[in-house]
Amino acid sequence: MSSDTDPIVDPGTSGTTPVEHATDARTPLLEIDDLRVGVKGDNVAYDIVRGVSLSLYDNEILAVVGESGCGKSLTALSVLALHQSPPLHITGGAIRYRGVDLTTLSAAEMRALRGAEISMIFQDPMSALDPMFTVGSLLTSAVRAHRKASKAEARNAALEALADAGIEDPRRRFDEYPFQLSGGVSQRVMIALALVNDPSVIIADEPTTALDVTVQAQILERLRMLKEERKMGIMLITHNLGVVAAVADRTAVMYLGEVVETGSAQDVLAVPHHPYTNGLLAAVPRLNSKVADLKPVMGRVPQPQEITAGCAFRDRCERALDRCATEHPVLAPRHRTSVRCHNPVD
Ligand SMILES: Nc1ncnc2c1ncn2[C@@H]1O[C@H](COP(=O)(O)OP(=O)(O)OP(=O)(O)O)[C@@H](O)[C@H]1O
Ligand code: SF4
Ligand SMILES: [Mg+2]
Repeated sequence: MSSDTDPIVDPGTSGTTPVEHATDARTPLLEIDDLRVGVKGDNVAYDIVRGVSLSLYDNEILAVVGESGCGKSLTALSVLALHQSPPLHITGGAIRYRGVDLTTLSAAEMRALRGAEISMIFQDPMSALDPMFTVGSLLTSAVRAHRKASKAEARNAALEALADAGIEDPRRRFDEYPFQLSGGVSQRVMIALALVNDPSVIIADEPTTALDVTVQAQILERLRMLKEERKMGIMLITHNLGVVAAVADRTAVMYLGEVVETGSAQDVLAVPHHPYTNGLLAAVPRLNSKVADLKPVMGRVPQPQEITAGCAFRDRCERALDRCATEHPVLAPRHRTSVRCHNPVD
């Protein structure tokens, strides 16, 4: 069982900040605060996202990294109320965007926010783009869903977004259908759709996983440029530590629905303190994008329903102490990062 009362120390907001946040007096654009998301049904109730706290500031890329099933997508989907409900429900915590708790918004308020303030980019553009519409009509509809715009204004906004997404010939692509596009161009169209209403936050869930290495690098570079040019906050979900090394300012490592280590990407990658982060990095020979995809750390990952007291990583941990079986570790500052562990690596 997981605890509802564990103090979560988020280096983005806490007074006891590690070095990289000591000067961070800014207000986060997006603040996920002790978020819990779980399955709730007639005879079943368990949390999958178990008290996640993350802060995203403007002009930064925050990489959320962790093995399959640890709750990265569910955390991201919950921000825009896109999780499948039922059976999934937000069971605790808050998600604040510019100080407003998104968990309290009506469906209409959430629709107005999606795309205009916070956009999402998904892994598989081919299935996310409606094959019945041209690129131009997808983009102009997205513009007109959020503001009054003449046909010419919507077209101009669409062409501009295509150019900003790094598409070389926006006028030609405007009239094409999704089936006419390569994987890389489709993903750029997804980025254009995410940009077209000039949001402050983009959540990109494995945006390059389906692409070949060269195109991956181009798309990541485009996201990095957009962050700098538009001062956006980008939450980038990835399996790939090479991606973290290449573009992230800060990173949060998740394990079984919890953040287990967070800090500047440089610090976490250079000197990981959590045994799980340490294991992930040890399994990756070099941090370039081809070889840095996560390798499983030894041992079986429990299902969310199986989590009991103590540390959820203990059955896989070589550093486990007796107390790890009974005491749930809290995220606490450790040197330059924050770590959830009773016996961290130094
Ligand atoms: N609709 C659902 N009903 C029940 N459980 C779900 C549902 N959607 C996701 N889950 C469970 O939630 C957990 C977290 O899933 P999530 O998709 O967030 O993982 P992830 O970290 O994004 O993994 P991946 O890297 O494979 O994308 C998984 O155990 C998954 O089985
Ligand atoms: S709390 Fe204990 S079991 Fe968990 S990661 Fe740290 S040492 Fe390992
Ligand atoms: Mg996912």
